[in-house]
Amino acid sequence: MSKNDHPLGQQPVEKTVISLLEGLATTRAIRRYTSEPIPEAHLRDMLFSATRAPSGSNRQPFRFLVLTDGEKAVQAKALIAQAAQDIWTEKERSDGYGEGSGSNPDSPKSRMARTMRNYVGNFSDVPALILPCMIRYRDPDPMEGASIYPAVQNLLLAARGLGYGGVITGFHRPVETELKKLLAIPDDVFVACTLTLGKPEGSHGPVRRRPLEEFVFTDSWASSAPWAVDPPGTRFTSAGPPKAQNKNEEA
Ligand SMILES: Cc1cc2nc3c(=O)[nH]c(=O)nc-3n(C[C@H](O)[C@H](O)[C@H](O)COP(=O)(O)O)c2cc1C
Repeated sequence: MSKNDHPLGQQPVEKTVISLLEGLATTRAIRRYTSEPIPEAHLRDMLFSATRAPSGSNRQPFRFLVLTDGEKAVQAKALIAQAAQDIWTEKERSDGYGEGSGSNPDSPKSRMARTMRNYVGNFSDVPALILPCMIRYRDPDPMEGASIYPAVQNLLLAARGLGYGGVITGFHRPVETELKKLLAIPDDVFVACTLTLGKPEGSHGPVRRRPLEEFVFTDSWASSAPWAVDPPGTRFTSAGPPKAQNKNEEA
């Protein structure tokens, strides 16, 4: 059977009821998953959505290595899981997650640390691990990411629409050489990130950011646009990890 007459090739992409803007406002970083595998039909829909993304000159340089339960997938997951654990152990210490409000188990900082410990500890069992890659056609350039990361976000949004969740990570980076060898990824291919996906164990909830006025300027730098106001009920959060100089700040 050629891939053109695979039964999924005759099925439309699933229609979901969530609106685009609602999906955007509730696509959070999801790091806890049930063990439920992701059906191929849903993977197809997510990857179809990902590949609708724009790219420079419509070169479509994105490629997605989808790792679920095959032999190499299991090895790749274990390899990245070890890197994830090492990275988090160091970050937890250097960002002071155990200090200040980190000693209160109910603080956002402690909750974040628990989530991350659980995430990296179960990393090798994530239902799907995707390596979004970009085939380079010229020397690395600061704008090249614009031909791969929109596709990554499309994938996350489609996952949200279908009731899944995921998160972008850089956990592959320390093991990139071994990973490329294991998965036969050519040298001229840029592994843009590591994406884990699954059915969320909790709920999605609204994304929280800084107030809109801090992000949007008009006419000149730092001049807030008067119309850039958050809708009623918007909740906010601080930017970045806890500051090393002020370990009481929340994560
Ligand atoms: C470039 C980039 C790198 C990231 N790296 C990691 C990572 O290595 N590990 C991780 O758990 N989350 C990582 N994230 C997820 C961010 O922590 C997350 O998107 C951010 O905290 C906002 O989360 P929220 O949308 O749930 O508010 C990364 C996100 C981006 C965009």
